[in-house]
Amino acid sequence: TRVEYLNYDVVADEGWEIDDDDLFEKAADGGYDPEDYGKFYCEPDESLLEAAENRGFSWPFACRGGACANCAVALFDGELKMPSNHVLSAQMLDAGIRLSCIGVPASDELQIIYNVKHLPGLDDLRL
Ligand code: FES
Repeated sequence: TRVEYLNYDVVADEGWEIDDDDLFEKAADGGYDPEDYGKFYCEPDESLLEAAENRGFSWPFACRGGACANCAVALFDGELKMPSNHVLSAQMLDAGIRLSCIGVPASDELQIIYNVKHLPGLDDLRL
C-alpha cells in the first residue's frame, strides 16, 4: 500500500483543517521535511506504525497494543483496518480516527494525518 502521510503539527501550524479538500496538495507543495510529509510503502505484514518506524520515522505511540490512542491517525483517503478497538468511540471511528499501532492498510492507497493525539476534541471522544 502506498502511504502518503502528513504531520498534524503542520496542519495546526498552518491553520489548516484535516478535512480541507486540498490538504494533501497543499502539503505536497509546501516543501516540508520528510519527517512531516512524504510517502512510503507499507508491506502487508506491517502495521502502519511499524512501517513508519521501519523507514526511519518516529511517530507517537505508547502502549503499541490498541489501548491508549497516542498513536492515533486521521484517515483522509483509503482505509486502515483494526483487528480490535478498545479506546475509540463510534463517533471517532466515524470521523476517520484509527490506531496506527494495530492498523493495517486495507486499500492500495492511503492518505493519513499522523500525530493527531492533540486534535481538539480527541480526548473528549475517547471511550
Ligand atoms: Fe497505544 Fe496505539 S500505541 S493505541
